[in-house]
Amino acid sequence: MALFKRTHMCGELRKEQIGENVTLNGWIAKQRNLGGLIFCDVRDKTGITQVVFNDSVPQELFDRADSLRSEYVVGVKGVVAERESKNPELPTGDIEILAEDLVIYSEAETPPIYIKDDDNVDDNLRLKYRYLDLRKKKMQDNLLFRAKLTNIARSYFAECGFTDVETPMLIKSTPEGARDYLVPSRVNQGRFYALPQSPQTFKQLLMVGGTDRYFQIVKCFRDEDLRADRQPEFTQIDLEMSFVDVDDVIGIQEGFMKRVFREMKGIELETPFPRLTWQEAMDRFGSDKPDTRFGFELQDITELVKGCEFKVFNDAVAAGGSVRGICVSGGAPVYTRKKIDKLTEAIKSYGAKGMVWMKVTADGVSSSVNKFFTPEQLKEIADHMGAKADDLILIVSDRNKVVWDALGFLRRHIAGELGLLDDEQYNFLWVVDFPLFEYDEKEDRWSAMHHPFTSPKAEDAELLKTDPHSCRANAYDIVLNGVELGGGSIRIHDRGMQEDMFRALNMSDEEISEKFGFLVEAFRYGTPPHGGLAYGLDRLVMLLTGEKSIREVIAFPKNQAAQCMVSEAPGTVDAQQLEELGIALIAEKE
Ligand code: AMO
Repeated sequence: MALFKRTHMCGELRKEQIGENVTLNGWIAKQRNLGGLIFCDVRDKTGITQVVFNDSVPQELFDRADSLRSEYVVGVKGVVAERESKNPELPTGDIEILAEDLVIYSEAETPPIYIKDDDNVDDNLRLKYRYLDLRKKKMQDNLLFRAKLTNIARSYFAECGFTDVETPMLIKSTPEGARDYLVPSRVNQGRFYALPQSPQTFKQLLMVGGTDRYFQIVKCFRDEDLRADRQPEFTQIDLEMSFVDVDDVIGIQEGFMKRVFREMKGIELETPFPRLTWQEAMDRFGSDKPDTRFGFELQDITELVKGCEFKVFNDAVAAGGSVRGICVSGGAPVYTRKKIDKLTEAIKSYGAKGMVWMKVTADGVSSSVNKFFTPEQLKEIADHMGAKADDLILIVSDRNKVVWDALGFLRRHIAGELGLLDDEQYNFLWVVDFPLFEYDEKEDRWSAMHHPFTSPKAEDAELLKTDPHSCRANAYDIVLNGVELGGGSIRIHDRGMQEDMFRALNMSDEEISEKFGFLVEAFRYGTPPHGGLAYGLDRLVMLLTGEKSIREVIAFPKNQAAQCMVSEAPGTVDAQQLEELGIALIAEKE
């Protein structure tokens, strides 16, 4: 079969090419036979061109064109002509090709999904036939966008003196808070590698090794529950630098973001980005990744309501918690009782037991707690919160964490419902001074909030031995529109301090040596002060392309059950493979 060497891509032809002989390759998007005329839309990743077979072509060619069906792969030769009825929707809509020859490279059965950007196909079907899904222009555009962005990352960091180094994929477990994916070793039976949750320890060893500035676009693996912005395997833009402080790392990142936005979006970002301490982020936004595109900031009214008649508030305060609220301007008429009940229900998943609402009208304040407060007291609360007529106040009282989580959710959720999330606005900020440790309620123990290699702030370093849980960390997260794009820290580079850190995490000396002996040992032989950061590349591309899920910017993502729908991984393996690995499966429990 002859290969028709193409002269143009299907999205390229314009009026300027009228009269030229051209050759296109692509897929049949549509074919219509109107008697003496056959129209075909030929598609590739750049777009669609209309091709016409009229009655001046030989019968044999006309018949071949008549046999075309959707998704046949073809080559077409012909002359570019001006179109009679133009299609302003298509960039190629002014022209068509008067066909002179056609080759069918392959036929296609009726595809199980439509190749159309705005189809409403079930997600699992899209993932099963991903190779068809990828034929959509939007998907190809996303892949191209991602590739351009990684090219910018490579050139920017290379220009800044970073060396691209590959770190191993078969490693010992690195703690980033999720479960590891394990890989059994055949030659070391009974032993397992872990796939890296991040290259954290290796990039630190590169600093000990004198690499000075390391950079890598790297796959990471985390066995955790999936969400719209999480995949079990995802990609980081990972970096580490020697002889730096927080400002140095942040400065390099702001330069990177400026470059990305200039080249990918034509937007000049203003730097430096605002910095919020973790405490301020929680107090004002109820979140360590605040979305600052809208208001509704949290307000603490604990002092104001102290000693009131309302037991729920008093109990929360007595137990060391707080009473806080948000004021939704113009929210009173929008939020009916039914809608408020829905919000109350929704915050239960954050541990909140209930929610108080107040609606401000021209005549006063009505609320769910009228019984417990005088009209004057209600007005005082409303005034304190800056509420005006038609505003809605929502109040939660509980432990601080519950209050922050519930109100943080409410402000984001309500902003979404009120249409206040402007996709064209890009609000960057840094959250700094995180606590070094956090209490893990599920596991009932303290863990490192970031990871155990993060250093305490210099002024808190002494506390690591005496009162570790009150230490603040030299850690920073970069946040865009309420999404954590990346995070990092200045690391511990002192062996003694690293051991104190592990001890503060309740690790025994044996455990330290077994899990991190190699790192602690490396620190014996001359370690530069160092720090770094990693971005979630998929999240960055998701936000910049305006997608709602990172699956849209990954060629072959996993579904909700962490399965690859195309290849049906994970799969079973045969008995011999297991035997070689020395693995026996236990019978599935009923
Ligand atoms: P961290 O765990 O914060 O830090 O991860 C860095 C960034 O990676 C992205 N990310 C994910 N993206 C998609 N799916 C996931 N399951 C997922 N998990 C994380 C996020 C996150 O901000 N080693 C440290 C970095 C450092 O300290 O230098 C680390 O991995 O955007």
